[in-house]
Amino acid sequence: MLPASITNVQAAGDPADGERLARQWCAACHVVADDQTNGTEAVPSFTEIAKTRGFNEATLTGFLADPHPKMPDMSLTNREISNLASYILSRGN
Ligand code: HEC
Repeated sequence: MLPASITNVQAAGDPADGERLARQWCAACHVVADDQTNGTEAVPSFTEIAKTRGFNEATLTGFLADPHPKMPDMSLTNREISNLASYILSRGN
């Protein structure tokens, strides 16, 4: 078991698969990775989301299961949501 100080910034999913999903499904609007140069100014980057929006695994997975009206509902599976949350939270490190 990892100490709470580590587990509370990481989600249970697979961040590598989350990155693949993010590049496929989220990069049209969000800057999802450091090497991505195109994105929309009006949409927060994943690093910003991880660092400044105060999300943890529970609130992030909750958001992705029932997204904000400004965002399309992508009908992600629980597994995809978990992997995406894991990847997004890893960007805040
Ligand atoms: C069609 C454009 C679009 C796509 C595609 C998109 N988003 Fe978003 N997303 C937005 C916008 C716009 C906002 C800002 C909403 C706001 O601040 O009101 C946002 C906000 C967010 C937030 C932060 C919400 C908050 O309250 O701070 C998260 C987390 C997020 N998106 C995750 C994702 C993930 C994960 C994907 C891919 C599975 C994705 N988005 C795909 C447009 C998009």
